Amino acid sequence: MTSTSQPIVLITGAGRGLGLALARALLSSGWRVVVDARRAGHLAAALPGAVVVPGDVTDPAHRDALAAAVSGLAPAGGQRLDLLVNNASDLGPSPLPRLADVPLTAVRRVYETNVLAPLALTQVFLVALRASHGTVLNISSDAAVEPYAGWGAYGSSKAALDQLTAVLAAEEPGLAVYSVDPGDMRTEMHQAAFPGEDICDRPAPEAVVPALLRLIATRPPSGRVRAADLAGAPA
Ligand SMILES: NC(=O)c1ccc[n+]([C@@H]2O[C@H](COP(=O)([O-])OP(=O)(O)OC[C@H]3O[C@@H](n4cnc5c(N)ncnc54)[C@H](OP(=O)(O)O)[C@@H]3O)[C@@H](O)[C@H]2O)c1
Repeated sequence: MTSTSQPIVLITGAGRGLGLALARALLSSGWRVVVDARRAGHLAAALPGAVVVPGDVTDPAHRDALAAAVSGLAPAGGQRLDLLVNNASDLGPSPLPRLADVPLTAVRRVYETNVLAPLALTQVFLVALRASHGTVLNISSDAAVEPYAGWGAYGSSKAALDQLTAVLAAEEPGLAVYSVDPGDMRTEMHQAAFPGEDICDRPAPEAVVPALLRLIATRPPSGRVRAADLAGAPA
């Protein structure tokens, strides 16, 4: 049973990892949830009640399909999106190559996914976000601010995403706009960054979700935040 008073969220890259964990949590808190991933065949069963739109965030036709799915949940004739989570991300080649060797085609792909697609989705949903005084949550990384060898393509893309986030916050004072460094998580992307390493000491993505829920619920001033700093903050 759904009602038009339930908030609406779009989470990109919710096929696994952090996106899937956040989608599960928001669904169980009563949100109406739209998700995507390129491989999405398992998602109707994994996220009962969610609207699943298979596809690639870098594809304009897929972004149109996401817009249609979100407007299908809004009140008739109206536009509404309460929360946009740009979570889908491309790490680039694994093992991570140094800048001296990284193929430009791979860098281009990383930027298309991590920078241009979040910006394009922000443009697509800005009217709906403004209508609901919504929140934009761009998932960043410590690699945006730390110069780790091998992380040049991905890290610089997340730095660009951070700056887009900061400018959007300045331009749209009616929205809450965050870039969030979730910290290390035991996911497929993290394993690709550390091929052959045992990553079982890293926290599961579910461990980061309470900090994100706290951020969404409390709406502190827009900015860049580390999930680790939010974890113990009062609600
Ligand atoms: N894991 C970490 O330690 C860590 C640390 C810092 C920041 N982060 C950030 O946290 C976020 C979540 O990462 P994660 O570790 O949960 O990653 P993950 O487990 O690899 O999951 C990424 C999800 O995004 C989807 N995806 C990737 N490219 C896509 C595209 N072009 N279009 C649509 N969906 C796409 C993937 O599904 P398909 O492949 O089927 O499309 C998958 O569902 C990312 O923004 C990442 O940069 C992660």
